[in-house]
Amino acid sequence: MGMEEQPQTPYEILGDEGIRKLVDAFYDAMGTLPEAAEIRAMHADDLGPVRKKLTNYLIGWMGGPPVYLAVHGTVCLTDPHAPFHIGPRQTEQWLKCMETALEKTGASDELKNMLKLPLEHVANTVRNQDESDPQPRDPNIIAVG
Ligand code: HEM
Repeated sequence: MGMEEQPQTPYEILGDEGIRKLVDAFYDAMGTLPEAAEIRAMHADDLGPVRKKLTNYLIGWMGGPPVYLAVHGTVCLTDPHAPFHIGPRQTEQWLKCMETALEKTGASDELKNMLKLPLEHVANTVRNQDESDPQPRDPNIIAVG
């Protein structure tokens, strides 16, 4: 590779506008894919605020300026997701929406390959349950049937 061929970050490829479009396509997918209905239902009816937050988050995460950090003082995703049951199925739903959004916005194979493992990784750090469905925790509950 010559000196002029610096590896690009996803942010350099997409820019602010590209990331905003990706996030719009992501929540559009969440609102329309039947297999994402479960995670759509966890979100507020009005997706406006979270569209802005995820856009800001991804700008920093993809190698751009840390705008989410500047607003929220942290990039830790544990607290904002703690109220929700996020197991393997819900994590797959999130990734499916992102895959659809990358497809719909015409992302190159290079960009898709660049993002695949990091997206899986970050989605798995947000996962806060081992099971996809809530498990009975009360030992007095005796499953019947
Ligand atoms: C793994 C599956 C995931 C599920 C089911 C999920 C679900 C949610 C829900 C229900 C909210 C609250 C939205 C609202 O109040 O309307 C939220 C907020 C948010 N999510 Fe996720 N999420 C997931 C993964 C991720 C990932 C991987 C990222 C980052 C790459 C992310 C970034 C955010 C951000 C930045 C917010 C806003 C947090 C804030 O209030 O500052 N989420 N998510």
